[in-house]
Amino acid sequence: MTVAIPSLNKSGLSLPVGQLYFPSKSEYDEILEGIFERRYFTNHGPSAYEFEYELADFLNVKHVILTTNATIALAMMLKSAGIEGEVIVPSFTFVATVFAIKWAGCTPIFADIDENSHHINASRIQEKISENTKAILVPNLWGDTADIRELEALSKSTGVSLFFDSAQAFGCEYRGKRLGSYGKAEVFSFHATKILSAGEGGCVATNDDLLASKLRNMRSSYGAGKFAEVPLTSNARFSELQAEIGRWSLRHFARIVDNNRYLSHLYVAELDGVPGFKIREIQNASFSNSTYLIAEVNREEFGVGRDNVLKHLFNHGVNARRYFAPGIHRMKVMTDNANEPVSLPATEALSDRVIQLPLGSSVHEEDISRIGNLVRQSRSAF
Ligand SMILES: Cc1ncc(COP(=O)(O)O)c(C=O)c1O
Repeated sequence: MTVAIPSLNKSGLSLPVGQLYFPSKSEYDEILEGIFERRYFTNHGPSAYEFEYELADFLNVKHVILTTNATIALAMMLKSAGIEGEVIVPSFTFVATVFAIKWAGCTPIFADIDENSHHINASRIQEKISENTKAILVPNLWGDTADIRELEALSKSTGVSLFFDSAQAFGCEYRGKRLGSYGKAEVFSFHATKILSAGEGGCVATNDDLLASKLRNMRSSYGAGKFAEVPLTSNARFSELQAEIGRWSLRHFARIVDNNRYLSHLYVAELDGVPGFKIREIQNASFSNSTYLIAEVNREEFGVGRDNVLKHLFNHGVNARRYFAPGIHRMKVMTDNANEPVSLPATEALSDRVIQLPLGSSVHEEDISRIGNLVRQSRSAF
């Protein structure tokens, strides 16, 4: 099998779809100094605890439980909340949302999304609720959010617990309130492609004291603080090195968001008016973290399909991405035995159109006009 490698751009590197904002080498040395003095490198030490306090303060939530990544945070969140049975989730999300449900020993039940907002909504969920439904897991995608108010109302009227996968939405606000304390708990990711990065990392945020104690006991087989009974333990401890990178990223959060926002405006100016190439606008968040530049390619109006645009960009050293294709609900492992995959028309239509363009610290003004030209050229390149 041959693996395709993108050609290189002017600087000799391919342009990644997302690149973390990282401290300079000298800043890096400086922020790690305390760790080397203390010689306390890992095992959830003082830097990790400090990062948790700072995050709780920033998110205005009682508890933040740092974890090695968001995938394990999602699984731990469901497990520690005692969820057993069916969990309603969209297929239009990153695979980790759905596989975390499986890691927690639960069964994902797919609901279609609203094609316009890209998010799951109350009426789609309502169609799937049954006596076996134990929870709803809602991803807040693209630095935007679902319609949280109607989801909270649904959770209240049905008694089904609501959780959020806010991996892509750190720092976003809904109706003027920062994400972090919606539903029973929320998960954030600090992966390299995320707006707040620790290289790798994640957390659960919650106002529920018992849930927080359980999560801390589940996170580590020792050194968990206040005891709480849990069905199993894990190892999702944070390293001091990750914590200091995360703290640096939090201090620079506003600047990082501003830079991405500026780049996003340039994209809009560059590609606005190209028929069939629609840049997605934020719909529900009252403040977006500007992590993602998402567009929809309409084959009929644009002339060629999304995959041809991707191919043309890739051939010229630009690593754009298709999201989230093919749909998770179509994966063999998600269909039990002889059952046909569930039909999700809006998810399937959107998965064929969505493209994510590069954003982040590697992208410069001149890259955006180059990418704009490549997108326009792709109509006649095939
Ligand atoms: C919606 C969503 N959920 C979960 C994850 C998993 O995060 P992590 O890579 O930190 O495990 C991601 C990461 O890309 C994501 O975008």
